[in-house]
Amino acid sequence: MLLAVSLALGAAIAGFFVGRDTKHQTASAAAVSTQQSATAIDPHVAAGAHLFVQFACAQCHGDLGRGSVSPVVPALTKVGGQLTAAQLRHIIDHGLGESADPKQPYMPVWGAVISDAQVNDLVSYIRAGLPAVPTATPPEIPQGQGLAVEGATLYVSYGCINCHGPNGLGGVPNPLSADKTIPPLSGLDFRHQFNTDAKIEAVIRSGSVIGKAPIVSMPHWGGIIPLDRLQALVAYLKTLK
Ligand code: HEC
Ligand code: HEC
Repeated sequence: MLLAVSLALGAAIAGFFVGRDTKHQTASAAAVSTQQSATAIDPHVAAGAHLFVQFACAQCHGDLGRGSVSPVVPALTKVGGQLTAAQLRHIIDHGLGESADPKQPYMPVWGAVISDAQVNDLVSYIRAGLPAVPTATPPEIPQGQGLAVEGATLYVSYGCINCHGPNGLGGVPNPLSADKTIPPLSGLDFRHQFNTDAKIEAVIRSGSVIGKAPIVSMPHWGGIIPLDRLQALVAYLKTLK
């Protein structure tokens, strides 16, 4: 008797979920098709939106370039109408306002890291007024799964990976710098030089200016990355080879 009841209950529950699932699928399929027909977005603008997230422009200039992350980082919503494409390209390639003050972020030099085609797409995106583009959003930061897990995602969302490589392996060319490449954040040399959490945190916060463009320097992240996130980044870096 008990068995019969529980079987019937089980079937009812399964039926409920199957029904829900089908409904859900139909609804989301419809949503996708309206979305596709409604958003015939210029592929260069779409690419620019994804690059804006990938290179962490959004982390300093705000989501959709709307500002409000730091008083010293301007919003980009008006600049597309004020500057020519060539002027915007020049700022992205060469940076702006390199500051010796480690507490002040500056606009990093990207020319050696971001290709001409990518810079053009970023310019198209800015000149199009930085519209929202589906899925061009930073990865969600995992919570409650430990600092190193959080830090691994932050390493991607703050764009560290673009300059320091996957797993902190380094090797990204920086031809006019003394080292010729952007340094690794792993390996014995790194761990000898940066042998305490405080030293690693300090260099992320204060960055460096190792030369004028086209030399790529370490951005100043002070005032951009909050302390708990700096700690998560350090915890992640300490897991690397
Ligand atoms: C580490 C923080 C940071 C990151 C990352 C960053 N920027 Fe900037 N950016 C700045 C700061 C600070 C300024 C203002 C510099 C100044 O005026 O001295 C600026 C200025 C600019 C300007 C000129 C704005 C104006 O009103 O003159 C443009 C355009 C720009 N950034 C685009 C980008 C793009 C595109 C990216 C991604 C590839 C990016 N930025 C990434 C900090 C950042
Ligand atoms: C635009 C490229 C760029 C980005 C983005 C970038 N870095 Fe750097 N980083 C550099 C360069 C170049 C150096 C070397 C600076 C020097 O020699 O003074 C450096 C140095 C460092 C160092 C010191 C290592 C050493 O051997 O000197 C650490 C730690 C570091 N970066 C962490 C990070 C983290 C964490 C992020 C993301 C929040 C990040 N970097 C993002 C370019 C970058």
